Amino acid sequence: MVHPTLGWSGDAASGHLVLLDQTRLPLEIHELCCRRLEDVVEAICSLSVRGAPAIGVAAAYGVVVGLQPARSSSREDFLGRLEEVVATLAASRPTAVNLAWALTRLSQVAHADQALDTTDLHDRLLEEARRVQSEDEATCTAIGQAGIEFVPEGGGVLTHCNAGGLATAGSGTALAVLFAAADQGRKFEVYADETRPLLQGARLTTWELLNHGIPTVLICDSMAAWAMQQGRIQAVITGADRIAANGDAANKIGTYALAVLARKHEIPFYIAAPRSTFDFALPSGKDIPIEERGADEITHGFGRQTAPDGVGTWNPAFDVTPADHITALITERGAIAPVTRERIAEALEPNGAGSCRA
Ligand code: MRU
Repeated sequence: MVHPTLGWSGDAASGHLVLLDQTRLPLEIHELCCRRLEDVVEAICSLSVRGAPAIGVAAAYGVVVGLQPARSSSREDFLGRLEEVVATLAASRPTAVNLAWALTRLSQVAHADQALDTTDLHDRLLEEARRVQSEDEATCTAIGQAGIEFVPEGGGVLTHCNAGGLATAGSGTALAVLFAAADQGRKFEVYADETRPLLQGARLTTWELLNHGIPTVLICDSMAAWAMQQGRIQAVITGADRIAANGDAANKIGTYALAVLARKHEIPFYIAAPRSTFDFALPSGKDIPIEERGADEITHGFGRQTAPDGVGTWNPAFDVTPADHITALITERGAIAPVTRERIAEALEPNGAGSCRA
């Protein structure tokens, strides 16, 4: 990463969350300071901070920001405020489970030690948020290493949306794999889908890949089928926002189409994601909540009207790729293949064996 995606500045009592505003990239490097809970919520809703793991880390710091006014209150008031803060942050974006995961983790810490007074408890929450961030950084590195073997030497890799350093606290998930492979001297080219409607691929992924010195080709989403047919793509690697217990995986809208195309062209399709993106409470992908965003993202992309007034729109931000279309899930505990409920449980659930690979 050229610039850290997010971090905390100062102490728990008066510090704040600092974010690289992703809506301004790649043209401007602009830092956003979130000093109030509403600032954090707005940053998440507007996609100033985005990508499943990064949203989780931002939400963890959001809890600290949101509890600053209650720092010296009674324990009862502090925990009451915690509930409100958590509910507000949880409602900001529904699909990426990392958000709920991080909030649950901070809530558990707040309830764990009954003896701490509220100022110490608040300090403890900042420590935990920092831990969520540093663990994610290490997780990204491990995902990168686990995926190197899937990057085809001399081939083309297609990716969608942005699953890089900007979407995490470290080097990314899908892009961590590509960065690690490049660092090991593997030669390959990356095709980045522009990723309509908000262009995370065009604005963010190409920016990260070029900063890393990786040859990068930007294509419109509609060109993926032809790129595969023309023999330009030897692997597809994307991230995920939520993976159900059976391996069905939600990711940026358009991912499912790539998986279908990859199967048709007999190209391996990989999803790279940390354990915090798995939702074991959901048996399958049909229960994953899919965020629907405003019409203006389609009719007025980046401020310019591109459709007639009064046209109907539908803007789901994510889709779900069925497990049977995924060649392997690349996690910090290794690759999981074939993608089945049993393999996933064995590799990732607390009582599972903890290691994977067919
Ligand atoms: O709407 P976004 O930009 O938050 O969507 C992000 C994605 O779909 C990413 O691919 C996903 O969160 C994985 S990030 C490592």
